[in-house]
Amino acid sequence: MYRMNGVDRRALSRRRFLSLGVGAIAGLIGAALGIPLVGYAVSPALRKSKTEWVEIGPVKDFATSIPQKAEYTLFKRDGWVEETAKKAVWVLSKDGQQFTAYDPRCTHLGCAYSWQGDRNRFFCPCHDGIYDIDGRVIGGPPPRPLDRYETKVEHGKLLIGAMYSVNANLERVG
Ligand code: FES
Repeated sequence: MYRMNGVDRRALSRRRFLSLGVGAIAGLIGAALGIPLVGYAVSPALRKSKTEWVEIGPVKDFATSIPQKAEYTLFKRDGWVEETAKKAVWVLSKDGQQFTAYDPRCTHLGCAYSWQGDRNRFFCPCHDGIYDIDGRVIGGPPPRPLDRYETKVEHGKLLIGAMYSVNANLERVG
């Protein structure tokens, strides 16, 4: 008989073995249930948003050689949050084939600008920023040409994608 301070050592070791075994099994079950739940709860927030193409309108509406302002509704999901927002874009096509879509915010401090057809320029009233028809800065404080969106045509409709900036030579930089 193995006794230690009045306690049976075999019984102690069996109890300890059972307790360790139960603990290990409980841990495995917890991991098996918990990891998928954590992944389910966290993954939408971590999922990287990909470029969404948004339909702006029929191509023929923009083939005018004059910048046209188009308004559209953007549906956006960010993690668990879903929202819709009213947006606008200025679209120019000089030949009905190539389209340039300008972000409607001035690159200085983000004010809304407008097209002044009689002066052939975009004008921002906040600090007198002036851009030519191609979005180049020709006056005032804007630090760079108008930002623009990627464009593509599908089934006669114009779509815009990711926004990017250009340098003074209208070469894409971002
Ligand atoms: S925000 Fe347009 S010029 Fe300042």
